[in-house]
Amino acid sequence: MPDQAVRVCFVCLGNICRSPTAEGVMRKLVSDADMESLIEIDSAGTAAYHVGERPDPRAREAALQRGISLDSRARRFEHEDFDRFDYVLAMDSENLENLRFLASAPEHVDKTFLLRNFDPCSAAEAEVPDPYYGGDAGFEEVLDLCEAACRALLEKIADRAQQS
Ligand code: 4NP
Repeated sequence: MPDQAVRVCFVCLGNICRSPTAEGVMRKLVSDADMESLIEIDSAGTAAYHVGERPDPRAREAALQRGISLDSRARRFEHEDFDRFDYVLAMDSENLENLRFLASAPEHVDKTFLLRNFDPCSAAEAEVPDPYYGGDAGFEEVLDLCEAACRALLEKIADRAQQS
């Protein structure tokens, strides 16, 4: 990975539903755009309940139906991640608040965003809702929302790379 690579980390609560889905969606978009050498992608959770687990089977199945394989293992977001990543993308405002609580410098806070902020079609403060306690439709919605936001995020990163 070159030094000028852009590093993005998607963050939810458990790191088994939403953020692994966003990670898988972004990996596919980046691979389709032939930009794998320019963008590093990861995900993490603000809670440690599921550390070491594979993504929720419902998330894996829904993603697989769209040709996306979710291969991550759950981990907790660590303070050091603020130094490693350029974009720290929270799925909802509660996780964004938790990330900002963990931040110890304004530069860390400046790297934190709500993922859907990047989607020009979504409302300000829009979230990716937690599908964990719901049915299969929730996992489809997570995929739809992540695809729209990640597409826009990738465009922004690609535009910046062209300018520099
Ligand atoms: P995620 O979903 O934050 O999208 O991974 C959840 C996973 C697990 C739990 C809650 C949300 N839980 O309460 O165990």
